[in-house]
Amino acid sequence: MSKILVTGGLGYIGSHTVVELQNAGFEVVIIDNLSNSSMEVIDGITTISKQKPLFEKLDLRNKIEVSTFFQKYQDIEGIIHFAASKAVGESVDNPLLYYENNLNTLIYLLQECNKNEINNFIFSSSCTVYGEPDSLPINETAPVKKATSPYGNTKQISEEIIFDTCSVSNLKSIALRYFNPIGAHESTEIGELPLGVPQNLVPFITQTAAGLREQLSIFGNDYPTPDGSCVRDYIHVVDLAKAHVVALQRLLGNKGVTNFEFFNIGTGTGSSVLEVVNSFEKVTQQKLNYKIVDRRAGDVISVYADTKKANEELGWKSEKSIEESLLSSWNWEKKVRGL
Ligand code: NAD
Ligand code: UFG
Repeated sequence: MSKILVTGGLGYIGSHTVVELQNAGFEVVIIDNLSNSSMEVIDGITTISKQKPLFEKLDLRNKIEVSTFFQKYQDIEGIIHFAASKAVGESVDNPLLYYENNLNTLIYLLQECNKNEINNFIFSSSCTVYGEPDSLPINETAPVKKATSPYGNTKQISEEIIFDTCSVSNLKSIALRYFNPIGAHESTEIGELPLGVPQNLVPFITQTAAGLREQLSIFGNDYPTPDGSCVRDYIHVVDLAKAHVVALQRLLGNKGVTNFEFFNIGTGTGSSVLEVVNSFEKVTQQKLNYKIVDRRAGDVISVYADTKKANEELGWKSEKSIEESLLSSWNWEKKVRGL
């Protein structure tokens, strides 16, 4: 059984990926500092997969502790690196926190990869690297544009750091550029649990429906889109998790075309904010209290993925519809709130 390190494995995407890795026969060791997650997530993972992942509470910004970890675990064959800070607005207010957490952690891990001959590395990137697309759907040949936030910039710089490292070492890496992950595991054992007021659309919707928030604000209905609201590509988190498994298998099987590859991971379908709200109301039979407000600074108008490269080269395709995704988000919210 190959042992895989999953950093940030107790977080939203990481926890779902741990389950899919275990289902595919990998042994998982998680590193997380619990800055945006809790220990209960391990129980959720274990209930679903019937396997308790190994866990080390560790802050990846601590270079010495990172090194000690790799001395303890000498049989790691691959790393999936989720651990990062991810709130766009917070990154504008506190850029150094973002550069420190998202870049130092990556650098320390890559140094350990070199030292310990761990040559398979998957990185959580984002469609934010494309900025406002010139044409849609967007494919991987589109240029990376100047980031609109320090958070987005860390993803761009991270891809460059990995590319440069792959050029001079045996490291092979895949960056997965996620579109908008939503939804929760069908068991409702794990899901997204944002701290404080949610910044993202779907958790805000489910918390409004659950009565935690008074009203959803829709940020703008005067964009040049069919109904005036912004368009995104919402992908079920379990579909996204499965993409990591096939990417890992590609690395372990030496199937990559180049040492550093990147893939769009989305559904290929764009949905507007108003369409998401309508779908949510329809599949959950919940009436949402919402109002249209001003545009939110920094939002791109419309972005959705061309998934051909991931479909053809990774052999991966998203399977779940947006309705299924929204229903799973709602079922998770209900479970968490005891509704
Ligand atoms: P999350 O916050 O739920 O998970 C991240 C996990 O990493 C948390 O459990 C946190 O405690 C841990 N962590 C953070 N800093 C750490 C450190 N220094 N040491 C150890 N652990 C640390 O986030 P997520 O939504 O699961 O995102 C995972 C990755 O995917 C991130 O890199 C994020 O930037 C990227 N991403 C997320 C989205 C999204 O919309 N959720 C979109 C694109 C890319
Ligand atoms: N929106 C609202 N009301 C809200 C929240 C969001 O109308 O309360 C709108 C936004 O204006 C946007 C859309 O819903 O048009 C989606 O917004 P999210 O905040 O859910 O997602 P973003 O596309 O802005 O960004 C997310 C993550 C980023 C990540 C990106 C791509 O926050 O970290 O997806 O993966 F990089």
